[in-house]
This record gives sequence, structure tokens and C-alpha cells, in this order.
Amino acid sequence: MIEIKNLTKDYQSGATVVKALRGITVDIDSGEFTAIAGPSGSGKTTMLNIIGCIDSLDSGTVKIGDQEVSTMAKVEKSYFRRENLGFIFQSYNLIPVLTAYENVAFPLNLLGLSEKEIKPRVMQILKEVGLEGMENRIPSKLSGGQQQRVSIARALVKNPKLVLADEPTANLDSNTGREILDLMLKMNEKHNTTFIFSTHDQMVMECAKRLLYLHDGAIIRDERRE
Ligand SMILES: Nc1ncnc2c1ncn2[C@@H]1O[C@H](COP(=O)(O)OP(=O)(O)O)[C@@H](O)[C@H]1O
Ligand SMILES: [Mg+2]
Repeated sequence: MIEIKNLTKDYQSGATVVKALRGITVDIDSGEFTAIAGPSGSGKTTMLNIIGCIDSLDSGTVKIGDQEVSTMAKVEKSYFRRENLGFIFQSYNLIPVLTAYENVAFPLNLLGLSEKEIKPRVMQILKEVGLEGMENRIPSKLSGGQQQRVSIARALVKNPKLVLADEPTANLDSNTGREILDLMLKMNEKHNTTFIFSTHDQMVMECAKRLLYLHDGAIIRDERRE
């Protein structure tokens, strides 16, 4: 499903060049539950942002399904993101003035669906993530774990091919982090959604079915486990 070949990315930082990715080559199949592990600065966010069509690449190719990301124009990338990708962030990135329901409905509004089509889908996914009865709360009236559940529901509500999560448990205590990982795994199995998430947390790595270890912008290990 995802084919990455010789991917490189440099950042200019003042007078010095930071080699954030130095030739990443990897294939990820549909339905995989893959963690990108590695210390801070190893290139995890850069890799996720390039796969997620948020950041541009310098050389190499990134193919998602039959779409070649590296040749897409900015506007094509934004359509592609809207239709095919879901995102989960470390700091949830919910809209503070919208309720849980409205935050989850937001991506469907962008796709132009009617309220009649939207409502059952939003109610169903909020139930699946364990937030039944909390639809009308705004984010500040929810715990960190509950806010991350809203963001998982928001990422999944449009049935994306691929969900990208950058350190989704970094702001949560370890028990809550574990629950969030279990929920992502349940969604991966139930909807066969492909997940790629980054982490530097040992507990989170242990939940992955495949582990890609990044070090200084290169994959140094690729482990599969069942
Ligand atoms: N916008 C940027 N400008 C300059 N350097 C950057 C930028 N973003 C990331 N970097 C550098 O690229 C490297 C990889 O960063 P990043 O992908 O954020 O790693 P990680 O997510 O694993 O912590 C680091 O050395 C970081 O300092
Ligand atoms: Mg990062």
C-alpha cells in the first residue's frame, strides 16, 4: 500500500544542514499496525509528515496506493489528505469551541456530506471509542484520554485508508496511553485501517505489530511480531 524508496529530507538550520532523513526505503502493507520508534531527533515526525502530505521531500519516491505523492501539487495534496488520510496528534488538536460531536463531524462537513448522512456515522464512531453520552462536551470538559478518543474518532469517521499518529500517547499517563493504544489496535482490527504511529515509549512499541527503528534519519531495524 505504501512504497517508500530512497527518501531523503534536509532542513536548513541557519548555516548548517540537518539531514533529517537519509535514504529511507520501506514498504508498508494495507492493514498493518506499524510503529516508527526512535529517540528524539531521529526523523519520526519528518517521515510521518512526508507520508501525510504535510511536508515535502527532497529526493526519492513515496507512493500511497497508486498515487505518487512526490509529484503532487499542493492543492492535490490537500484533497488527497482530506479524502484518504486521518491524523492523530500528540496534543489532540481538537477545535476548542466545538463539542466532541462537532469535532468528529468536521471532516465529513469538509467532504460536503449532509447532516442526515453525518449524524449516524458520528454517533456510531463516538460509541466505538467509548464516548457515548459525552457528545455535547467541549474538549476542556474532557480528560486527556477522552480528548484523544475524540481525535481517534475524528481520524476514523471518514473511513480513511491510512491513519498517521505522531506520538499519540506522549501527553498521557501510562495507563491511559495503554488504553489509547488498545483502542487504536481494536480499530485497526475492526476496520482494517492501516496505522502508522511514532513513539519513543517502550510500552507503545510493545503494542506494535511491526517496528521500524529510526536512528539519525535511517531505518536501522525492521521487526515483525504477532
Ligand atoms: N523545521 C525544521 N527546521 C530545521 N530542522 C528541523 C526542522 N524539523 C526537524 N528538524 C530537525 O530534523 C531532525 C529530525 O527531526 P524530527 O523529524 O522532528 O525527529 P523526531 O520526530 O524523531 O524527534 C532533527 O535533527 C530536527 O532538529
Ligand atoms: Mg517528533
